[in-house]
Amino acid sequence: METHTLIDNGILKQHLIDPEICIRCNTCEATCPVNAITHDDNNYVVRADVCNGCMACISPCPTGSIDNWRAVPVGRAYSIEEQFSWEELPGELAPHELVATGGEPTTAAAPQPAVEAPAEPGTQVFRSAQYGATVPPWSAAHPYTNLFPPKNPTTATVVGNFNCTEAGFESETHHVVLDFGSMPFPVLEGQSIGIIPPGVDALGKPHYARQYSVASPRNGERPGYNNLALTVKRVTVDHDGNPVRGVASNYVCDLKVGDKVQVVGPFGSSFLMPNHPRSHIVMICTGTGSAPMRAMTEWRRRLRNSGKFEGGKLLLFFGARTQQELPYFGPLQSLPKDFIDINLAFSRTPGQPKRYVQDLMRERAADLLALLRDDNSHFYVCGLKGMEEGVVMALRDIAQEAGLSWETLGATLQREGRLHLETY
Ligand code: A2P
Repeated sequence: METHTLIDNGILKQHLIDPEICIRCNTCEATCPVNAITHDDNNYVVRADVCNGCMACISPCPTGSIDNWRAVPVGRAYSIEEQFSWEELPGELAPHELVATGGEPTTAAAPQPAVEAPAEPGTQVFRSAQYGATVPPWSAAHPYTNLFPPKNPTTATVVGNFNCTEAGFESETHHVVLDFGSMPFPVLEGQSIGIIPPGVDALGKPHYARQYSVASPRNGERPGYNNLALTVKRVTVDHDGNPVRGVASNYVCDLKVGDKVQVVGPFGSSFLMPNHPRSHIVMICTGTGSAPMRAMTEWRRRLRNSGKFEGGKLLLFFGARTQQELPYFGPLQSLPKDFIDINLAFSRTPGQPKRYVQDLMRERAADLLALLRDDNSHFYVCGLKGMEEGVVMALRDIAQEAGLSWETLGATLQREGRLHLETY
């Protein structure tokens, strides 16, 4: 891992995240190879005593909020507690404040291990995130990003909002269509936007933008219109199953046609689809992680209908609790079998064994192996954080059982922008 010297002559170049621009998408924390990034309910922050300047987090950040640096005397680094409380970045220190005081960078928190705990002798820690690409496929289109940064949102009008799961179940997901009128808002499949809920949080501060993947293709939810769709799950319980009312998700799911929303973005420059003929796309998702997969599938469907583009294989692995809670179950059924190969994993169907996407991938090992061997294949994983490791391990095992080196193949997929991980 390449690192940069952060300390020069007693002065630390401290890595900081701009809380006014950050959309709290967790990409940096998931990417950091040394666990230097952490967060609380307010901010994402960097531990000065752990960050080694490897820059792995810089390009994946959708907003650029990650790329902030302040010169501070070593020993006077901003602690993570200070950073948690910030509403904006501090200014640069004046020259007289930059007198080196010596000592190691400190944080008020207990020191964190710079690397993961050593594994048992003979075992290796598997870190799925290291295989996630930070560059797009070579044939991806050029994305526009940050046209409307968090400090300068634009306004969109709601032109559609419906439940795209079956009513009456515990989890409910909405398909929401936003129209930008005459304001240019170009997006590509795989990009995301931010929605700013109105009002203020418990501390009286305006809400920060919540990030949602775009579910429609580049030429609009309705072709030729300046609109896009989102797939938003209504959050009613927290990670531990306790009742909670998600501020942004409930706001979005309750929007009415004609309502105006504050939008920032677009964000994302690597989770993008290939555009060259006969390129294959393997899509692995759970729940609302299906949004970018819907966008890519629909773009390929429109290209196919145009008769002017020869696509490769489309292979979808999609997991949900039940068929009724799987977003877009109905529309998926009407896609031609020779266009897309659909594999659905249900984990809570009464009377049926629990099935996860990685279980189905292992069942389709022969087909996935053929695709892993093909340079034209691109793999996209989006959805629950917990799924990521199981999915990448399934790819690894499929490769290794056929005698391929996963270390070589995984590194190639990562370097060539052919394995993309977006989990939350
Ligand atoms: P589970 O029934 O165990 O929660 P959700 O509806 O919460 O968004 O989840 C979408 C699907 O992802 C559910 O079927 C859920 O199963 C499944 N899931 C949960 N954890 C994992 C995991 N570690 N790997 C793969 N799928 C998972």
